Amino acid sequence: MKETILVTGGAGFIGSHTAVELLDSGYSVVIVDNFSNSKPEVLDKIRQITGKDFKFYEEDLLNLDGISKIFDENKIDAVIHFAGLKAVGESVEKPVEYYHNNITGSLMLIKAMKKHGCKKIVFSSSATVYGVNNPVPFVEDMPTSATNPYGYTKVMIEQILRDVYVSDNEWSVSLLRYFNPIGAHKSGLIGEDPNGIPNNLLPYIGKVAVGQLPQLNVFGDDYVTPDGTGVRDYIHVCDLASGHLCALKYVLEHNGVEAVNLGTGKGSSVFDVLHSFEKACGKELPYEIKPRRAGDIATCYANTDKAKRLFGWEAKYFLDEMTADGWNFIKNNF
Ligand code: UFG
Repeated sequence: MKETILVTGGAGFIGSHTAVELLDSGYSVVIVDNFSNSKPEVLDKIRQITGKDFKFYEEDLLNLDGISKIFDENKIDAVIHFAGLKAVGESVEKPVEYYHNNITGSLMLIKAMKKHGCKKIVFSSSATVYGVNNPVPFVEDMPTSATNPYGYTKVMIEQILRDVYVSDNEWSVSLLRYFNPIGAHKSGLIGEDPNGIPNNLLPYIGKVAVGQLPQLNVFGDDYVTPDGTGVRDYIHVCDLASGHLCALKYVLEHNGVEAVNLGTGKGSSVFDVLHSFEKACGKELPYEIKPRRAGDIATCYANTDKAKRLFGWEAKYFLDEMTADGWNFIKNNF
């Protein structure tokens, strides 16, 4: 029997896809989620896709006793930690809530892990930690910074985990810096389904495609990029999930701390994504050019050498497959 993995935030977008990948690969999975930005139905969808069962706890990471109980009741070998608030704009309006939820939640999780001798963790970090001053492509040893409370929680949790390792070299920590996750599982059963009006490009385009929003607002067409719109490194969520499995295998076998980019290494503009999505859904979508969004950078993409070297992992999906799989989920679920 393979190891037992605790997945925090396992009902969320990336967590659910990773849980599928873990179950498909024969791991025992325990999910904890408070459904703050996800739905209970996702759990059944994971069971439906994999034909496998797992334990689930509806619990908040802020509740140390509740989290400790999970470790008391299960022999957890490693943790993949997704749970956290993630909306950049909201974090500017509610900084205290973001710091409390993301940082205190992570500290409680680490405390429970320490108490139970579990010292292996894969953490859901973000390309946002590269801040605004580094040149692309982003390489893992560049200095980190942030422009909003959400980004600072990622920078700080990375630092906390580095310090935990310094205090005890038996820890094994993987800090996965995601670029822009999009797409959905091929089954169309799970995908990204944010509450309210989406902040991110793909779910926003999806809402336009199904007629729930009138048009896409393109935030700036005067960037120094090939077509003037912002360029990002979009990565299929299933590639991201397989990257987590590689990171998990790595932490199960090595001690230490490694920050690793999970991206494709290729940039696509807002118009590239829009036109690819139009091909997927078979219709033209209305858009309007708007002023730049505060805090956005022109271009963001990964140097992916370290993931290849350390994990033997690289992204497999191209943009058209990402938007096609995204549309397959959106048309049935939005
Ligand atoms: N964009 C639009 N219109 C929209 C939404 C987005 O034109 O309605 C543009 C943005 O200006 C940007 C691109 O589409 O050029 C991507 O924007 P997203 O909001 O989808 O993603 P970001 O790159 O801003 O942010 C994402 C995650 C963050 C993470 C960051 C890491 O949302 O959590 O990537 O770089 F921190």
